[in-house]
Amino acid sequence: MERTLAIIKPDAVRRGFVGDIIKRIDASGLKLRALRLMHLTRAQAEAFYEVHKERPFYKSLCDYMSSGPVVIAVLEGERAIPRWRELMGATDPKKADAGTLRKDFGIDVEQNAVHGSDAPETAAREVAFFFSSLDIVS
Ligand code: CDP
Ligand code: MG
Repeated sequence: MERTLAIIKPDAVRRGFVGDIIKRIDASGLKLRALRLMHLTRAQAEAFYEVHKERPFYKSLCDYMSSGPVVIAVLEGERAIPRWRELMGATDPKKADAGTLRKDFGIDVEQNAVHGSDAPETAAREVAFFFSSLDIVS
C-alpha cells in the first residue's frame, strides 16, 4: 500500500470540477484517506513548491497556487503514486493523453487542474506538509 498527495488546483476548483475529479478518483479504485479545502497563503505555496524555487515558473506558480481555494487529499492504494500520475496525465494539458484529468480539465501548462506527488520521498513530505497522522483515516 502506498499513499500520495493530490491537489485539485485553483483553476479546477474555480471552474466547478471538484465533483468530477473526485468521481474519477473513486472510479479508479484509489481510496480517499484525508480531504481538506484550503486557500493557501503565498508563503505556504512557496514552501510547498520550494523544490522548484530556481525554476523560471516559480513566482507565477506560487501566485497561481495561492489565487483561490484548493482541495487537498491523501490517496491510498497499491502503486498509488504512479496510478494517480497516470490519471492526471502530462504536465502540459496539450500533451496529456485523452481521458486524463489534465487533458479534460486543465487550461495550460501552469493551470493544469491537479497535482500529484512524484516519488515515495516527495509523497511523504507532501502528505506531512498538509496533514497530521490524526487527519488520515486508516
Ligand atoms: O506537476 P508536475 O509534477 O507534472 O510538474 P512539475 O514539473 O513538478 O511542475 C510543477 C507545476 O509547475 C506544474 O504542475 C505546473 O502547474 C507548473 N509549471 C509551469 O507553470 N510551467 C512549466 N513549464 C512547468 C510546470
Ligand atoms: Mg512535480
